[in-house]
Amino acid sequence: MAHAPRVALVTGGTRGFGRGIAFHLAADGLDCAITYRTRADLAREVVAQIEALGRRSLAVPLALEEPAQVPGAVAKIVEMFGRVDVLVANAAATAFRPMLEQKPHNVEKTLAISVRSFVAAVQAAAPHMADGGRIVVVSGIDSHQAMAGHGVLGAAKAAMESLVRILALELGPRGITVNAVSPGLVDTDSSRLYLEKGLGRAWEAAAARMIAATPLRRLGKVEDVASLVAYLASPSAGFLTGQTIILDGGLTIVSPFQRLLDTP
Ligand SMILES: NC(=O)c1ccc[n+]([C@@H]2O[C@H](COP(=O)([O-])OP(=O)(O)OC[C@H]3O[C@@H](n4cnc5c(N)ncnc54)[C@H](OP(=O)(O)O)[C@@H]3O)[C@@H](O)[C@H]2O)c1
Repeated sequence: MAHAPRVALVTGGTRGFGRGIAFHLAADGLDCAITYRTRADLAREVVAQIEALGRRSLAVPLALEEPAQVPGAVAKIVEMFGRVDVLVANAAATAFRPMLEQKPHNVEKTLAISVRSFVAAVQAAAPHMADGGRIVVVSGIDSHQAMAGHGVLGAAKAAMESLVRILALELGPRGITVNAVSPGLVDTDSSRLYLEKGLGRAWEAAAARMIAATPLRRLGKVEDVASLVAYLASPSAGFLTGQTIILDGGLTIVSPFQRLLDTP
């Protein structure tokens, strides 16, 4: 008898990384549910493209700033697919402002979307995971580097990376791995919003400077992130847990002293 396909749940699956991760997992043979906040039109397109790959799919509306909505959304996915094997906590949002200008509701919202909803998603999904379950968080270099306007989101990502380690410890005996990927700059709606609105920089010029500062001399691509997440979600990655893997073309391994050589 053929094995039932594994089932993935990707938060924020309509655009950027989440969309690319959902397609990659579906191409690898997983049934794939996505969540979205507002873009029901894009969610329908993603579901149709996954179904065109011969996999089952479902899009569930889920405003992650309301962590209380998470168990109901996971329950809908379990009702349709009967299980969850892979949870990808991808969606995030914040107000890109200096810390002294952060409004209390924005601090609350950022932490709710990422940290509190991640805890709620793991609590809802892990009981339905069997041996071989996989949890992957999309973090960012703001977790360990001071980035203008990223103070609250960086703190949230640092908390997520900490949760990755404790969850790896707690879920390891059940054969479930928990890891994070930490991408550098990739061209998506949110990175354009950050550079253009948050920092007031033109995308092309800013991207060119980031490329020049990156040893591999390019930006990341959605597919770079999707293929690493797909590897971490695969049965092959069964002995890798509790880690945050930086995927940035070498951007953050370069010492600031290098700038002395790069500028006359
Ligand atoms: N892009 C980069 O360079 C970069 C680098 C490092 C880390 N990251 C991280 O990668 C992840 C994905 O970023 P991205 O650049 O792919 O973002 P994106 O293209 O802006 O996509 C955001 C996704 O999250 C959903 N979303 C946004 N706010 C939400 C909320 N309050 N509740 C539920 N869903 C929400 C959106 O749904 P709708 O379409 O319905 O609005 C959309 O599917 C984030 O965790 C980000 O911090 C990005």
